[in-house]
Amino acid sequence: MSLKKMFLLIVAISSVCLLLHQGGHWNWSMQAFKDIGCPSLRSHPAPGLKPKHTNVAFIKTHKTASSTMQNIIFRFAESNNLTVALPAVSCKSRFCYPRTFNSHFVHEHTLPANIIANHMRFNETELRRIMPSDTKYITILREPASMFESAFGYFTECHSFNRVPNRSLEAFLEEPERYYRANEKDSTFARNTLTFDLGGDKDRPATDVEYALESVARVENIFSLVMISEHFDESLILLRHLLSWDLEDILYVKLNMRKSGSKRSLTPGLPEKIRAWNSLDARLYDHFNASLWRQLSALGPACVARELLHLQQAQERLMRSCFGTQTPLLRLAGQIKNMDLRPWQPKGKVDILGYDLPHNVSQSLSRQEQERCLKLVMPAPQYTKVLLSSQSQRYRRTHQHRTTS
Ligand SMILES: *[C@@H]1O[C@H](CO)[C@@H](O)[C@H](O)[C@H]1NC(C)=O
Ligand SMILES: *[C@@H]1O[C@H](CO)[C@@H](O)[C@H](O)[C@H]1NC(C)=O
Ligand SMILES: *[C@@H]1O[C@H](CO)[C@@H](O)[C@H](O)[C@H]1NC(C)=O
Ligand SMILES: *[C@@H]1O[C@H](CO)[C@@H](O)[C@H](O)[C@H]1NC(C)=O
Ligand SMILES: *[C@@H]1O[C@H](CO)[C@@H](O)[C@H](O)[C@H]1NC(C)=O
Ligand SMILES: *[C@@H]1O[C@H](CO)[C@@H](O)[C@H](O)[C@H]1NC(C)=O
Repeated sequence: MSLKKMFLLIVAISSVCLLLHQGGHWNWSMQAFKDIGCPSLRSHPAPGLKPKHTNVAFIKTHKTASSTMQNIIFRFAESNNLTVALPAVSCKSRFCYPRTFNSHFVHEHTLPANIIANHMRFNETELRRIMPSDTKYITILREPASMFESAFGYFTECHSFNRVPNRSLEAFLEEPERYYRANEKDSTFARNTLTFDLGGDKDRPATDVEYALESVARVENIFSLVMISEHFDESLILLRHLLSWDLEDILYVKLNMRKSGSKRSLTPGLPEKIRAWNSLDARLYDHFNASLWRQLSALGPACVARELLHLQQAQERLMRSCFGTQTPLLRLAGQIKNMDLRPWQPKGKVDILGYDLPHNVSQSLSRQEQERCLKLVMPAPQYTKVLLSSQSQRYRRTHQHRTTS
């Protein structure tokens, strides 16, 4: 051993001894560790910060605030020049949902990909074929009772729901088996939708506890983060830490919401019935909500509180600069003039809300800023088209270069 190495060893041993002997300093150094675990909110690139993780598969589930999350991911992809795997034209905007995902469903102009975030029914093997090996898998779940109520109102053409007299949620839950047909294409919205979207079997009976546990374990193994809609901001903070993203990267406006008149509060006893009918989803949700809060407490409540505050303040600044107000003005889909911003509306009574960019505000913004504000509130179908068009152009350019050079 050289003298230099010996010296370093002695220094290392004495440092550890010092720390162990001095209780106060020990506590101090633990605090310092926690602060390292809560990176400061400088903007990239800053020396000493981990590079942002750019390979991400977000499995978009139905009726879970997933459109808002997808919008965050699309904007991140654009500002970092990443490639987003998009559905082939024949697959519509949802990778041929409810068919199980297949790598052939991806548009050839959008490969090789860094990001995937459109609706699909998940299949791990098939997705791994097109995604880089260091891809982080992320998804989002919502409390099953409120989610089911939302799906019942939103999927106005779902046969299982439309068979019910007066289309009553209460009547459906009295005898779900009477109205539900497991093999109908749209039955995926009428039972254990989250389990189905994540590739599981929505029709396993509630008594098959072993399957439910396996299902949870499978999701746990594949996904680095399972977000929870009811705790969206907290989930975003975990996301930011997982991917080493900036605060700027997780700012958002809530998309694809219903008018409050088309929501309803559930009568007593109904949530329990919904959970019993969707028992696989209920188990998934309870498991991952608990796991979200364990991760938040590991990060440290002070760190989480600080980041929540920063997020909220940055959000308000962005809203004021884009919309001139603290929250953008919600409008009914039909009243939105800019077609790029008009959200899709299901047939029937559900009133989906969206946003317009106020003219007087956007006039004072640069083109780049206007573009940023526009993308912030652009609904998923339009955004998907925009991305497909720009990526196809890029694909043709590089393809041409290859064949001519
Ligand atoms: C460690 O420090 C924190 C505040 O920095 C204090 O609240 C806590 O009581 C201290 N713990 C011990 C064991 O001294
Ligand atoms: C993305 O590409 C544009 C145009 O090629 C370039 O100006 C910009 O610096 C790139 N951004 C990043 C984050 O690589
Ligand atoms: C998922 O993909 C693999 C490989 O293509 C296939 O063997 C498997 O059957 C698929 N799973 C489902 C549920 O379709
Ligand atoms: C459907 O609603 C109407 C009016 O609200 C009511 O008179 C009728 O009894 C309802 N039918 C059933 C089967 O619940
Ligand atoms: C999620 O878990 C937390 C912590 O246990 C709890 O406070 C919260 O109510 C749960 N959320 C829902 C929607 O059940
Ligand atoms: C823009 O116009 C709206 C009404 O049309 C008004 O309420 C708002 O204050 C105006 N904002 C600015 C920044 O002029």
